[in-house]
Amino acid sequence: MRMVDIIENKRDGRELSTEEIQFFIKGYTDGSIPDYQASALMMAIFFQGMTEKERADLTLAMVQSGDQIDLSEIEGIKVDKHSTGGVGDTTTLVLGPLVAALDVPVAKMSGRGLGHTGGTIDKLESVKGFHVEIENQEFIDLVNKNKVAVIGQSGNLTPADKKLYALRDVTATVDSIPLIAASIMSKKIAAGADAIVLDVKTGAGAFMKTLDDSRELAKAMVRIGNNVGRNTMAVISDMSQPLGYAIGNVLEVKEAIDTLKGEGPEDLTELCLTLGSHMVYLAKKANTLKEAREMLQGVINDGTALKVFKTFLSSQGGDASVVDDPSKLPQAKYLIELEAKEDGYVSEIVADEIGTAAMLLGAGRATKESVIDLAVGLVLRKKIGDQVKKGESLVTIYSNFEDVEEVKTKLYENITISSKKVPAPVLIHEEIT
Ligand code: URA
Ligand code: CA
Repeated sequence: MRMVDIIENKRDGRELSTEEIQFFIKGYTDGSIPDYQASALMMAIFFQGMTEKERADLTLAMVQSGDQIDLSEIEGIKVDKHSTGGVGDTTTLVLGPLVAALDVPVAKMSGRGLGHTGGTIDKLESVKGFHVEIENQEFIDLVNKNKVAVIGQSGNLTPADKKLYALRDVTATVDSIPLIAASIMSKKIAAGADAIVLDVKTGAGAFMKTLDDSRELAKAMVRIGNNVGRNTMAVISDMSQPLGYAIGNVLEVKEAIDTLKGEGPEDLTELCLTLGSHMVYLAKKANTLKEAREMLQGVINDGTALKVFKTFLSSQGGDASVVDDPSKLPQAKYLIELEAKEDGYVSEIVADEIGTAAMLLGAGRATKESVIDLAVGLVLRKKIGDQVKKGESLVTIYSNFEDVEEVKTKLYENITISSKKVPAPVLIHEEIT
């Protein structure tokens, strides 16, 4: 087999065979196929697209390019939740303990944040002592015991995807739905999930800015998952404004605690109940989505979900007393209010720019090497549709430096107040199965 023929086949719109896709992925991973040929193929795929069979073949070839996590020692159906990334997205912190409280095993492999989106591990590490550097066996034992554990990314997972993603980044071939879908799904499948619930974000703060693109990506991922034998569904949810009120590590941990107590923001709570219902249903712990939702509401109301969160934190070395006393979490030195300059209604809160404002305070990483400040961030006081009076606070800025003019300017530029009442954005756009 020759790589040049594979490129030509795709260039001319012919379907690649399973063997051709495996040949390419194997050769690119081991270095026998050079970047220039891989680039040409990526560009041909960008223009010609991929059939459903090619997408499944590409995903599996990337899964097989490296290690695969074996979770077979964990009892029950392992359901993983994946979000395509958003601002202030605290759902993982809530969902882990929440579905674990219903005996759904959550074996989460997670990463650190980069850019304007925060990482689950960073958030959890704001709890003193909490750590994710645990051995695979300990991880499996913890999931069997507590039904929830988080481990840092380790091992050589999907090296083909790592190499290809970096290549796509510099060859203008990231924005291809089949390539994005295969990239995301290969990582989930290699991480050992039996079933997958996808939270595909849409709007200004999301990777996919329009509903049409988000739907297309969601459908592509759901088909790949189901075609390779993993029960997969997707929820398309709003990311035109940040989720919940808090953006920043400690602030989001507090928000997660509130939500597990049943006192969280309405949108975050609703999204967690929606995603959680699908997880419980796919794990076969409920017969209907309605029943699943009632069970989730039950473990929030009776305190079980919060108790599971405490056990989870202490089992991985964390000081669980922060749950009852969040003042023990790292605190910012300065709390500064961003005051509204006029009366009206909040009509826009551009999510990704708000995320960047939090990053300027030190809550997020500008580069992989940046050291983040866990205590700082933003708490929105108003969301889209809310009425506001001149002088009222729009946002509380939690900072460890006094001069936050740059942050204030960015916030004013990206929070719009209009004289007319604006409806709150729809939170759940569609569910795709
Ligand atoms: N995120 C991924 O993991 N892969 C892509 O290709 C794009 C976004
Ligand atoms: Ca939030």
